[in-house]
Amino acid sequence: MPSDGYTYVCRFAVLEENVPRRFEVEGVPVSLVLTEKQVFAIHDVCSHSAVSLSEGEVEGCTVECWLHGSRFDLRTGNPLDPPATRPVPVYPVQIEDGCVYALVEGRSGR
Ligand code: FES
Repeated sequence: MPSDGYTYVCRFAVLEENVPRRFEVEGVPVSLVLTEKQVFAIHDVCSHSAVSLSEGEVEGCTVECWLHGSRFDLRTGNPLDPPATRPVPVYPVQIEDGCVYALVEGRSGR
């Protein structure tokens, strides 16, 4: 079982490496990103304008917003390039028995 507060998101097997995928978790839009090393969960709304980060490109540990090109660090949510200046919330992830869980409770960033 995952730790307290974690919510089931999807089966691990549905994730494709470097292809972000959007889910609603407890009413929060979350993008799951499987990189070479691990699964990250990042709020699926760019901090610059309200567009979906899951439509952006993944490179290494970053996702690039498709609209104006700011890249966000998937580990911290911090923007690495302008024009975004504010971080995007990131959420802890657990993988148990082939299922992915994320901790979004109280961390919605709304
Ligand atoms: S909307 Fe994402 S960088 Fe402008």
